[in-house]
Amino acid sequence: MTLLVEGISTGYGETQVLYDVSLRTEDRSLTVMVGPNGAGKSTTLRTITGLQRVWRGRVGFDGNDITSLPAFARVELGMASAPEGRRLFPLLTTEGNLRLGAYCRRARDSAEDSLSQVYSLFPKLKERRSIKAGRLSGGEQQMAAIGRALMSKPTLLILDEPSLGIAPILIKEIFETVKELEKGGLSILMVEQNAYQALKYADYAYILQMGRVLRSGTPSELKNVEELRKAYFSIV
Ligand SMILES: Nc1ncnc2c1ncn2[C@@H]1O[C@H](COP(=O)(O)OP(=O)(O)OP(=O)(O)O)[C@@H](O)[C@H]1O
Ligand SMILES: [Mg+2]
Repeated sequence: MTLLVEGISTGYGETQVLYDVSLRTEDRSLTVMVGPNGAGKSTTLRTITGLQRVWRGRVGFDGNDITSLPAFARVELGMASAPEGRRLFPLLTTEGNLRLGAYCRRARDSAEDSLSQVYSLFPKLKERRSIKAGRLSGGEQQMAAIGRALMSKPTLLILDEPSLGIAPILIKEIFETVKELEKGGLSILMVEQNAYQALKYADYAYILQMGRVLRSGTPSELKNVEELRKAYFSIV
């Protein structure tokens, strides 16, 4: 077990957004969270990465209680994320952005090895290494955001909607790369609105709706769940 979220509640200002959210991830597995716009998926990820303070509940990582640990310290423990909107530095080159991911102590010494690994995983990024990140396509930017997260040598990789704004052919490529990373030993937590696609790759999934975990289970357990259809169709 790597990540254990227990009964998290939080919100913005006075407004509560998450209600008693619990979830867990296992080693070498892909856990997916699906749900409509505004369900609280990104907020859940931010409580896990330490960017959002929790009101109640607990976050455990590899047996440690990290609930009040700052974000940078969670990176040092092996947690990395590619956030919603990618958050690259547009004026920095692709490689410059990747290298920033290895700035933490746990990854600094192996930055060159990590860079070769990222380039072999995403050959496109190697071709585009000297291009400013702001000039990359949406798909390439997503690859760079995942690559940058990998540069910190995580054991848990957190992805917020990697398929957003990306051509269908690239979505498949990105999901397949994510699956490859899982086989390589990573634990992955991925938020997706593209529920049916994401469930094809998931080992376990959570449906979040209005700040609550509605159902969880293996993709085959959830496939025909009415709530999933509702959660999915309420997106459009
Ligand atoms: N910084 C913020 N300040 C105030 N309210 C916010 C903030 N960020 C999110 N919210 C609100 O919290 C709720 C959950 O938002 P969140 O971004 O977690 O949802 P989401 O499931 O990730 O949605 P999406 O699919 O659109 O990314 C929404 O009602 C949103 O308006
Ligand atoms: Mg979101």
